[in-house]
Amino acid sequence: MRNRYNRAPMTQLDLAILGGGNMGCALVGGLLRQGLRTERITVGESGREARERLAREFGVAATADNVQAVRHANVVVIAVKPQDVEAVLTPLKMQLQQSHPVCLSVAAGVRTGALRRWCGAQVPVVRAMPNRPALVGAGITGLFADAAVDAAQYALAERVMQSVGEVVRVDTEDALDVVTALSGSGPAYFFRLAELMAQSGTDLGLAPEAARRLAIATLHGAGLLAHTDGDLARLREEVTSKGGTTEAALRTLEAAGIGEIVWRAIEAATRRSRELAEQFGPT
Ligand SMILES: NC(=O)c1ccc[n+]([C@@H]2O[C@H](COP(=O)([O-])OP(=O)(O)OC[C@H]3O[C@@H](n4cnc5c(N)ncnc54)[C@H](OP(=O)(O)O)[C@@H]3O)[C@@H](O)[C@H]2O)c1
Repeated sequence: MRNRYNRAPMTQLDLAILGGGNMGCALVGGLLRQGLRTERITVGESGREARERLAREFGVAATADNVQAVRHANVVVIAVKPQDVEAVLTPLKMQLQQSHPVCLSVAAGVRTGALRRWCGAQVPVVRAMPNRPALVGAGITGLFADAAVDAAQYALAERVMQSVGEVVRVDTEDALDVVTALSGSGPAYFFRLAELMAQSGTDLGLAPEAARRLAIATLHGAGLLAHTDGDLARLREEVTSKGGTTEAALRTLEAAGIGEIVWRAIEAATRRSRELAEQFGPT
């Protein structure tokens, strides 16, 4: 039977999600919307209130016992804070080495090498870098798997992340730092730009609420247009009449060095991502 998204149900996924917070819940919601049955998801979650919410809102099993959560899983999603990953995985090492699920980590900056040390060397590990719009099903995830992960294992991981948005595969683990800088941190850049646009509108005479709504709707609409079309330069040119208002604004931005500013910002975020990853040990 086809579900409302016209996809075949994911019968072959048996999922454990360790950490039922923001990202864990987004994945549970996304997978259920895509037709995965509730009995195929178990969440390992340490907080009692969070477990009760998972059972109430989604009808999935939630347990404080992570070994029980992963026992029958063919994909284990690691969705705890980066600093908690080692403590979560170390007690599971024996179980993971026995049952050999795909370990899919969304933890920012925790490298494949560290994950393998904690899961066991033979366990297939996939790293995902999603972004916050995943919480509303409109995320984009950079996905990295090294040569030890076969195509079927990668496909399982990809399906999990596709439940909360798009997926882009990257070829090197270092590229995930650039993904972090671009799409991981990226929503904040657009929020900041929208804030500044709203503030400028207010300074120039609009009511603050009207300026805020205009900025947010512009952000949303421009995003939708870019998503359906994809040719960013042409879209920009179509809005920019010769001698018009947009041209006046863009010329001001270019003269102020917007290209250099954005490059430096994303380069700084990439560098910071690499520095933060070093605390979890070598790759
Ligand atoms: N949220 C995002 O937008 C986003 C984007 C990209 C990547 N990520 C990654 O996703 C991961 C999770 O982020 P999040 O925002 O979902 O964090 P979160 O809301 O804090 O969720 C983590 C959950 O894990 C629980 N937990 C802690 N220790 C545990 C344990 N030993 N066993 C089981 N559950 C445990 C926490 O419970 P307590 O609160 O009781 O400790 C919390 O409910 C992070 O590694 C982050 O880097 C998140």
